[in-house]
Amino acid sequence: MDEELRNATEKIEDEFSLDRNFLVKAKNHFLTSMDAGLTNEDAARVYMPMLPSFVTSLPTGKELGLFLAADLGSNFRVCSIDLHGDHSFDSKQSKYPVPKRLMKNSTSDALFSFLASKLQEFLKTHHHEIQNSTALKMGFTFSFPVEQIAIDRGKLIRWTKGYSLPDCVGRDVVEFFQKHIDMLNLPISIVALTNDTVGTLLARSYTNNSETTNSRTVIGAIFGTGTNGAYFEKLSNIPKLAGVTLPGDAQGMVINMEWGLFDNSLDILPATKYDNFVDKVTPNRGYHLFEKRISGMFLGEILRAAIVDLHEKSLILKDMPKAKFLPATHLLNQRFLILTEQMARFEIDESENLEVIRTVCETEWHLTTTIGEREAIKILTRAISKRAAYLCAIPLSAIVTRVKDEYRQDDKDFEVGCVGSIIEFYPGFEEHLLDAFNKIGPLKGSNKKIILKLEADGSEVGAALCASNA
Ligand code: BGC
Repeated sequence: MDEELRNATEKIEDEFSLDRNFLVKAKNHFLTSMDAGLTNEDAARVYMPMLPSFVTSLPTGKELGLFLAADLGSNFRVCSIDLHGDHSFDSKQSKYPVPKRLMKNSTSDALFSFLASKLQEFLKTHHHEIQNSTALKMGFTFSFPVEQIAIDRGKLIRWTKGYSLPDCVGRDVVEFFQKHIDMLNLPISIVALTNDTVGTLLARSYTNNSETTNSRTVIGAIFGTGTNGAYFEKLSNIPKLAGVTLPGDAQGMVINMEWGLFDNSLDILPATKYDNFVDKVTPNRGYHLFEKRISGMFLGEILRAAIVDLHEKSLILKDMPKAKFLPATHLLNQRFLILTEQMARFEIDESENLEVIRTVCETEWHLTTTIGEREAIKILTRAISKRAAYLCAIPLSAIVTRVKDEYRQDDKDFEVGCVGSIIEFYPGFEEHLLDAFNKIGPLKGSNKKIILKLEADGSEVGAALCASNA
């Protein structure tokens, strides 16, 4: 790599590195934000809203019955879940990609009518036996910030992850969906609305038989296209629920934190010019800035921003015309072209000539690179993904700090039920996350540890558990 490119690349690498002091400070800031969110009633404000889920207990593992679950995120998934009442379940499921044309510049009616038609398809394929007279209870996982007012009602606060249908904001999404289900005369009743993080916490609490695993599930977390988490909080710690009527025996509530909004005013979070660049090209500009530094939807775009910058400075891809002289479809101009999945392959390209990076650049993006340029791309990839993994340790260590005293009488480890492509597939992500968690050290001095446990289908199983309780 020539010296100028090396210096510039290392400078960017430095901007992305986070030290222990920062991590500890951020964990403390996160704890303060949790309290602020649990007190403040304005769910639509720009900082961490700590949304009540109206789920007032965690599953015991004994829940029983057949329920439907529908999950809208970057895909639409429909499942039927048969809970066996012994920490196990069977499921049938289908996944339907949501057409891009329905995600933005369209209407909520068009989106929910599409979703209802997929439910119909699902029933035809998997559940011929269900007649009108035996309406199935369904849990709806809606993985966006929602101000919930009951277990089966909630208003969309804002879209994230590339969706933008303004006519839905402020409206009850269950009402929308049920209307389209009824228009097709489907024997389905939505009895619970939930977030994917809440679902994941419930699902893992159900499947984890803590008698045999010796771990206690305390967090549900998503590290995928978006990022967020949920945990169970005591009612006495949620001042904003003071006037709300809840079941008499309720001791606490699962909180959908929407941690993608943590430090949205950027008081302490790192803000490189690449982060600012990415924010500017998203429909929810100015929001979910923590998420935009972490989740799968954005990491590739941060990398593209850094490559474009080096190219503008004539340090990389020197023979290529500047971005402004290239067709709009060219890599350097095309938003969100670099996929996190491609970065995952760059991350572990150990071949002498960096063949994986060379092939992707050449065949997928029509870029001819030198070995030095590929080395630079690999360094940038690793810096961006490592920072993302380190940032993920902040919420986990803050929550563990907050709840650990409640469990000081037992010796069980703290478990995080996880879902998401980044945590599941990105090489080294979990190791970096745990490394940062240990640097912060919320469990220092105890013999407990944190365990990240993948819970495939967590949000669907959780939605079914919510429905079973409704
Ligand atoms: C949404 C959350 C969701 C997370 C993970 C975020 O963009 O705001 O509600 O839990 O993505 O899917």
